Amino acid sequence: MIKFSNVSKRYDSKEVLHSINLEIKEGEFFILVGPSGCGKTTTLKMINRLVDLSDGTIYIHDKSIEDYDVHELRYNIGYVLQQIALFPHMTVSENIAIVPELKKWSREKIETRVDELLTMVGLDPNQYRHRKPDELSGGQQQRVGVVRALAANPDILLMDEPFSALDPLSREKLQDDIIRLQQKIRKTIIFVTHDMAEALKLGTRICIMKDGEIEQIGTPEEIVHHPKSDFVKKFVGLQKTSLEKEIKAEQLLSSSLLECDTLQSLPKISATSSLKEVLASLKFEEEVAVEKEGLVIGKIDRKTVIQYLAETEDEKDDKHESVY
Ligand SMILES: Nc1ncnc2c1ncn2[C@@H]1O[C@H](COP(=O)(O)OP(=O)(O)OP(=O)(O)O)[C@@H](O)[C@H]1O
Ligand SMILES: [Mg+2]
Repeated sequence: MIKFSNVSKRYDSKEVLHSINLEIKEGEFFILVGPSGCGKTTTLKMINRLVDLSDGTIYIHDKSIEDYDVHELRYNIGYVLQQIALFPHMTVSENIAIVPELKKWSREKIETRVDELLTMVGLDPNQYRHRKPDELSGGQQQRVGVVRALAANPDILLMDEPFSALDPLSREKLQDDIIRLQQKIRKTIIFVTHDMAEALKLGTRICIMKDGEIEQIGTPEEIVHHPKSDFVKKFVGLQKTSLEKEIKAEQLLSSSLLECDTLQSLPKISATSSLKEVLASLKFEEEVAVEKEGLVIGKIDRKTVIQYLAETEDEKDDKHESVY
């Protein structure tokens, strides 16, 4: 759906992106991750032509972005900026209605859409639509920023570190929201972060960048299990030894509610299985049930394990720091 073909970017004479090639499929949750200054924002902004290319071509639906009317292009690409960027003098509903207004939707259609979107992210329209941004918490403002980008129903959503300004709890809540939202609306999302744990949690595929080049593109599993370079290994914060750590299956149970029938139908492993055994069992299964003394006590899914690995390494030592 979106294709970068030999795309380079120079600022003055300095090249900051070197002949990038990548293809993003429809409905993907595609993550760009990498250290500060590696070119993530530049890559993102080239898609909606906020930044011009120096070389190469970007295609959307097989048509070069140069051949689209720039306004049409931007209306059809939602954009969530890093800083909360609501217009302070406008109400929540006016903020959300900006692109629908530009597209000359009817008043009625706009009002319905605003209410629908607010409801979708858990903000009661009656309570919130007339508020000004400074009458909302940071997390609520960020949610409005996300639905504003969705207002005119774009096919593509660009998100540049949308949650980085939030405290860890609000951040986790919004991450869960966006996963749920994506399952419902099936947009093509390109999401920038420099947080590997966030990348692993959200992404269907992850593109790791370094110094204006792509180091590796792959699913979260591929990146964790088969890092292509030392840089990727370091960035993921995972060393092989962590796979041998003394963690048992029962410490990895996912927190979702137990449904006995579903659990019984899953392949089973013992509560005392090692992390290595757990990973082996998840190689071909999305989730497995955990058995202790003949009783099923819960389940483990792949995402939980991957997140767990990323997080513990993160806390254990600051390997990420050394990459910056
Ligand atoms: N307008 C500009 N003029 C000159 N150089 C720029 C400009 N915008 C970005 N750059 C340079 O291009 C490189 C890539 O910047 P970019 O903003 O894409 O990085 P990033 O990966 O998004 O970093 P961060 O994680 O800090 O947001 C950097 O070296 C930056 O200094
Ligand atoms: Mg950036």
